[in-house]
Amino acid sequence: MDIRRRALLCAFTLIASMQAVFGQTPDLVARGAYLAKAGDCAGCHTAAPVPGKPQPHPFAGGLPMGSPFGTIWSSNITPDAEHGIGHYTYEDFARALREGVAPGGKHLYPAMPYPSFAKIDDADMRALYAYFMHGVEPVAQSAPETHLPFPFNQRWALVFWNFAFAPNERFTGDPKREAQWNRGAYLVQSLGHCGACHTPRGPAYNERGYSESSRTYLTGGTNDHWYAPDLTGLPGAGLGRISADDIAAFLKTGHGAGLATFGSMVQVVEDSTQYLDDDDLHAIASYLKSLPANGDGGTFDARSRSARQSIAALRTGDDERPGAGLYQSACARCHKSDGAGEPFKYPRLAGNPAVLSAQTDSLVRLVLQGGQAPSTEHGLEPKKMPAFSDKLTDTEIARVLTFVRSAWGNQASPVTTRDVRRMRDAVGPGARQ
Ligand code: HEC
Ligand code: HEC
Ligand code: HEC
Repeated sequence: MDIRRRALLCAFTLIASMQAVFGQTPDLVARGAYLAKAGDCAGCHTAAPVPGKPQPHPFAGGLPMGSPFGTIWSSNITPDAEHGIGHYTYEDFARALREGVAPGGKHLYPAMPYPSFAKIDDADMRALYAYFMHGVEPVAQSAPETHLPFPFNQRWALVFWNFAFAPNERFTGDPKREAQWNRGAYLVQSLGHCGACHTPRGPAYNERGYSESSRTYLTGGTNDHWYAPDLTGLPGAGLGRISADDIAAFLKTGHGAGLATFGSMVQVVEDSTQYLDDDDLHAIASYLKSLPANGDGGTFDARSRSARQSIAALRTGDDERPGAGLYQSACARCHKSDGAGEPFKYPRLAGNPAVLSAQTDSLVRLVLQGGQAPSTEHGLEPKKMPAFSDKLTDTEIARVLTFVRSAWGNQASPVTTRDVRRMRDAVGPGARQ
């Protein structure tokens, strides 16, 4: 081979390898960054900001997570070789995410949603790995260690839990359904791990189902004293009356169909779903809209006689029901006498599925502690809901919520003073949201 041809060949090889390193990797890293948003890795693996202290490093861990067994701290997953996951091979990474086993055989608690991440496909797993190795700043700082009481400190015992409850299966989809449905199902079941909050848990803290093939999947669950409502087509307390476009808007901006995101869903929208592109948001919405009605909770009928009566009575101020007067003085300023709220500012309470839900934890906790709608790139300035823990007694909170659940055509079970007292004991007046 003459020297010029050899030089030419060398140049071609060089260009080809440069493309492999510089051409493909940035795309893969960018794709991984997007998937990390879809999986909300930063939401759990970044410590909460403390006023007066520097902003916590993304992915450096140290967020405490409440579980029925005690507090579990998230790990440092930056590529620092000593304190983070810099020493992970691709196989280590995929195994930690899918099987909940870190190098050295350390079994992870299912506060890390590996039963859902098991469904992540290989191409996405490689992109995530590329991002965590090349797109994230290493941070040399240890996350606090988790110390659960016996027997929950016996991590090896998770072998049995995994065997019984964590099907280590890739997403299969349904070839009879269209591509959009399959994309939505994939995002909800794998990276989105929506079921970690929205699926009821069994006695061993196991999610009761990981796909629509299970009847209890996404029919509502309680975690850390927030109730994540039913996402099936249930007409009262589910998404039956909410359109796919409104669901997509809710996930992007925190507002849709007059509802506002609150409680633990606020972080999900702020850290994760607001960054998804419109195709993915519509895919998620269309998958959720395909879930047949399942579960229970209250009902809504705007045309019922009691609906018309309650609106007329509130206007004239002669509603005798306990809670009606409290509603007028403490809540109507924002949520209005007819419960319709103000779009993009104050959520509507009439016909609001979260208000009609079977379980009232979220409503009680929100009225006690107050809240703030998510702050997003595309949404409006978020409004606040004031805390009522030191303004209303337990009985008054029970009454006003019972009223809200039975006015304007809403029909759902009452809230009792005991429900409120139990929540006050659990979250305390100054507990962090
Ligand atoms: C709902 C909260 C949550 C989400 C979302 C989450 N993690 Fe975790 N993750 C945890 C917790 C908690 C631990 C520590 C578990 C333990 O100590 O047993 C953990 C542990 C890990 C570990 C093991 C580290 C080690 O050696 O201790 C890796 C790797 C990891 N997560 C990666 C990810 C990635 C990548 C994502 C996004 C695709 C993600 N996690 C999303 C909560 C979460
Ligand atoms: C950390 C727990 C958590 C996770 C994870 C979570 N949610 Fe939620 N979600 C909640 C809570 C709590 C509420 C009730 C408050 C509200 O309506 O904003 C809620 C409400 C909702 C609502 C409004 C329902 C209604 O009836 O008003 C939708 C839609 C929703 N979530 C979709 C999703 C999707 C899709 C995912 C996965 C990408 C997801 N959620 C993941 C906790 C969670
Ligand atoms: C100053 C205005 C204001 C007042 C007064 C107020 N709220 Fe709210 N309320 C809000 C805002 C803003 C949200 C959304 C909060 C969030 O996103 O975290 C909200 C959310 C709610 C929700 C959840 C509905 C949803 O879809 O987000 C309920 C239930 C609720 N309020 C009930 C009440 C009750 C009961 C009272 C009176 C005791 C009351 N509010 C007083 C502003 C107010």
